[in-house]
Amino acid sequence: MARILITQRLVDGGDAVLRASGHEVLTRDADGPMPHDELVAAAAEVDAIVCMLSDQIDAEVLASGGRLKVVSNVAVGFDNIDRTAAEAAGVAVTNTPGVLDAATADISILLMLSARRQASAAEADLRSGRWTGWAIGDHLGLDLTGATIGLVGLGRIGQAVSRRLGGFDTTVLHHTRHDTGRKGWTPSLLDLAGRSDVLSIHVPSTTDTHHLINAEVLAALPDGAVVINTARGSILDEEALANALEAGRLHGAGLDVFEGEPVINPRLLASPRCVLLPHIGSATISVRRAMCEMASQGVLEVLAGTTPGNLVPADA
Ligand code: DGY
Repeated sequence: MARILITQRLVDGGDAVLRASGHEVLTRDADGPMPHDELVAAAAEVDAIVCMLSDQIDAEVLASGGRLKVVSNVAVGFDNIDRTAAEAAGVAVTNTPGVLDAATADISILLMLSARRQASAAEADLRSGRWTGWAIGDHLGLDLTGATIGLVGLGRIGQAVSRRLGGFDTTVLHHTRHDTGRKGWTPSLLDLAGRSDVLSIHVPSTTDTHHLINAEVLAALPDGAVVINTARGSILDEEALANALEAGRLHGAGLDVFEGEPVINPRLLASPRCVLLPHIGSATISVRRAMCEMASQGVLEVLAGTTPGNLVPADA
């Protein structure tokens, strides 16, 4: 019998697969990241850790235990896990690809529409009592219909966004480092930005993508463009974005992820043109359940000595 640590509360019933497995399951009955010292101490005593993207699984955690075999992230992104240290320690890493693509793509579209139409600012006017009635020149936004959308990255989520955009009569371009062979591939990120009314980020967080969307890329956008980020905060230079918004260069931004989350850049908080969501890309009941199940299956398969389909390859 193995011992499995779950670092934070899962959604209701999310631990059912693990509990039915016959292994010992230790659940931390709390939301929010497990304190680092507790994590290091606990890691020494367990065979598997089921964790969230807010838990920092660093070299100290990974090196702390002789028996740790697998860390299973209840997220598709795994930038919170030191993969080099995991490999060195012989610890397998699993994630939850696929099950959250549609939900996250939906939030990207929601943010595109909200930022183009300035839905948050309009709603704030209504809630605060500033709205005094329909007026022809009030709350004028920009159409999504007919716009050119630049997707940075065309993985599963980027493709799901692209499919949805077909319903809005948009022109969809994409940038990836290697030629996708698909219509709309744009080899240069700056060229993509120069043609994008909406620039939407769909790449993972890596050292290569840190601040990929920087002042130079933002400066290449046409006046009145909109930036959307549902991937990871580290990919977008938020200070550069705040500069562009405050200068009136951009129409708005729609952000579901942040560099220092849960702390939000005060300049973005103060910008009425920024639609801000608290990292809810995958937050539907069915998707979060599916993520818990997939993470649990990954653990059980590694413990059983098989290779799970959701094993993160060493070179990913
Ligand atoms: C992920 O899974 O990486 C998302 O950011 C949260 O669900």
